[in-house]
Amino acid sequence: MKKPLAALILAAGRGERMNSNLPKVLHKAAGYTLIEHVVSAVRGAGITKVAVVIGVQSERVRSFLKGVDLVLQKLRLGTGHAVMQAERLFGHWPGELLMLPGDAPCVRTETLRNFVRAHQEGLADLTVLTAEIDDPTGYGRILRQGEQVVGIREELDASDSERAITEVNSGIYMFNARLLFKRLHEVQRNEKKEEYYLTDVVEAFHRSGGKVRAFKIQDRTELLGINTRKELSVAHQALSERELARHSKAGVTIVNPLQTSIAKGVRIGRDTTIHPFTWIEPGVVIGRNCEIGPFAKVRSGSQIGDRAVIGSFVEIVRSKVGRGTFVKHLSYLGDARIGNKVNVGAGTITANFDGKKKNRTVVENGVFLGCDTILVAPVKVGARAKTGAGAVVCGGHSVPRGKTVVGVPAKLMTKGKKQ
Ligand code: UD1
Ligand code: MG
Repeated sequence: MKKPLAALILAAGRGERMNSNLPKVLHKAAGYTLIEHVVSAVRGAGITKVAVVIGVQSERVRSFLKGVDLVLQKLRLGTGHAVMQAERLFGHWPGELLMLPGDAPCVRTETLRNFVRAHQEGLADLTVLTAEIDDPTGYGRILRQGEQVVGIREELDASDSERAITEVNSGIYMFNARLLFKRLHEVQRNEKKEEYYLTDVVEAFHRSGGKVRAFKIQDRTELLGINTRKELSVAHQALSERELARHSKAGVTIVNPLQTSIAKGVRIGRDTTIHPFTWIEPGVVIGRNCEIGPFAKVRSGSQIGDRAVIGSFVEIVRSKVGRGTFVKHLSYLGDARIGNKVNVGAGTITANFDGKKKNRTVVENGVFLGCDTILVAPVKVGARAKTGAGAVVCGGHSVPRGKTVVGVPAKLMTKGKKQ
């Protein structure tokens, strides 16, 4: 019978090297916090029992975690100590534990699946996920005797020859849960850092006759642990590149991937072109045959219909833009529903915030909004209506279908005259 599987993610650390007031795991890469990336990779691998060790600003970190068990580490005494806090939860767990650091956002779901399988098939007591990297600085080095992993040496404690080892520890392990807590009690506090290292448990497993194996992966970017701002931007780049490659493969033209940022999981239809300096946030859906950018910001909650054009210096948030609608230059659309075949003139703004709350704008099919129109929400512009250049349509008003309004405040025009 297959043993039950649970995951434990360590996310209580201060992240001192980030030099930040924000807990490290809440820094973002490719649209999501580091911890969200890790949790979603674990869930994607089909693991339903997930626990996270939190500590620094635990309330804030907790707000990004739904449907997981939380374990509090009150003192930051190292990764080994963090795991010890979960003994109450997993000390009698009858199966295996997948352990991950909360600061390594690039690991793929598929890799975790293969890793779990390799551990189970290899009948190991402990398996460590490793990779060879050119510059192993900062990572724990893997000490081996052939197939058997005999220990992990942290940078600070490594001899010159150990430092030269290029196979490094990802911080991702598979353990037999019961043995883990038994061995963890044997781990001594590291004198230099005054911390309990989880990595020391590897030697403890080896000493007690346990079978310890490494699972080496080829794509070293998956290991990337984020300890500094520089590493954060490397992770952002790595995650973005993956997303951009996925879109390219699916028939989206990304004119310059180095100048384009698309959050993980965004949906973009075939034959759409994304021009440089475009920023697309989580959850956005873009249709087919669209042109987006250059210099466009499409924020969360936005849906762009087929054949729409979102041009330069346009920001869209929580809005739906219909099929064949043009928003070509210098516009802000917030909390708006824009119909099909609408022409949004250059400089059109939805004034959606009244100082207290956000209000909605509705623009129906076939509307023509003149340049510099300001729509003070809540407001509705009926189908095929028009606004003159510079019109300010005031809050609570609606422009009747097929009519034209001009001026400030905007008034109905009949036979070329204002009413
Ligand atoms: C750790 C590993 C190192 C590995 C690297 C991979 C140890 C001792 N070293 O080093 O071998 O190559 O990860 O990225 O484990 N945390 C807590 N409580 C604590 C301390 C840390 O929850 O008291 C959490 C942190 O929030 C972080 C994770 O554990 O998410 C790893 O801690 P970090 O300080 O980043 O360890 P590294 O120095 O990167
Ligand atoms: Mg780290």
